[in-house]
Amino acid sequence: MIETIGIEVQKTEQSRIKEIDFHNIDFGKVYSDHMFVADFEDGEWKNFQILPYADLSLSPANTVLHYSQSVFEGLKAYKNDKGDALIFRPFDNFRRLNKSAARMCIPELPEEIYAEGLTELIKLDKAWVPDVPGTSLYIRPFIFGADNYIGIRPSTTYKFIIFTCPVGAYYSQPVRVKIETKFSRAFEGGTGAAKTGGNYAASLYPAKLAQEQGYHQLIWTDGKSHEYIEESGTMNVMFVINNTLITPPTGDTILHGITRESVLTLARDWGYQVEERKISVREVIDAAQNGTLQEAFGAGTAATIAQIATIGHDGQDYDLPPVEGRELSNKVLKALDEIKTGKREDKFNWIYTV
Ligand code: COI
Repeated sequence: MIETIGIEVQKTEQSRIKEIDFHNIDFGKVYSDHMFVADFEDGEWKNFQILPYADLSLSPANTVLHYSQSVFEGLKAYKNDKGDALIFRPFDNFRRLNKSAARMCIPELPEEIYAEGLTELIKLDKAWVPDVPGTSLYIRPFIFGADNYIGIRPSTTYKFIIFTCPVGAYYSQPVRVKIETKFSRAFEGGTGAAKTGGNYAASLYPAKLAQEQGYHQLIWTDGKSHEYIEESGTMNVMFVINNTLITPPTGDTILHGITRESVLTLARDWGYQVEERKISVREVIDAAQNGTLQEAFGAGTAATIAQIATIGHDGQDYDLPPVEGRELSNKVLKALDEIKTGKREDKFNWIYTV
């Protein structure tokens, strides 16, 4: 007999699915019927439940509201022709969740809790995985410190929750990005490689300033010299210069993106020249000026590939070649879409079927 964690399931009495227009869904605003919840108390994970999606009740003194001891993940499920839910690389997200947790002093989550919680939740809400082209079910697992205590120390209690939302496109058009050379997203020894709320909160103000100047997002540079490219917005960033795919290496300051890794794997498999190395702002601007910058894009779960139309630097805008002619990123996007929806062989074992 297979050991299970024993999840108590309380189904909703009234599904909301009929209220949803799957042809017209904004990113992140609509939530499916159920959520998985677990507690960490007295040194162990317990109370595994699937409940109707609902608000939480928190004390104003809850530690996460003040000090952000939290980590999260983002992954997606797609429908194949048979109506199965295909989840893309969920165990890569699991490993990264625990890496982020270690950095934020959050206790490790055992794999069986993540695996069973995710599987049972997606089974129950499978009808919420949309099959309209360009849509998917975004899955948000997260853990937060749950002590009611406003002194500073790691929480002694935590909640792990998974909820899901059917989503459409994250960006509706290619983006204009500004190379940020004043503010920093991350620095050596900091939390840049962890998927933790504070990183995202700290990026809002510089992004807002860029938006006031007519850009959608930023390209982040290193916190010390601002001479080297790190990420773009909430995504890893990639360039094709002289037919070579170049992206900065992950480390303390750059998130180990799962879409990033998938793009690199496909490009290498197809025989493209791929370089994971430091890339300077100068190199990108020179390439934009001399016409060797063929492609630039963000790679992340939410958008998959976010094409960059224009790069702003030092008061100057550099327009990139039209998106339609971008060979590598369009080929990657097509391949990923087909793998994720079961239309192409899953050569790298990326799909977990529910
Ligand atoms: C992603 O690009 O996948 C992200 O992490 C964005 C998310 C925070 C909405």
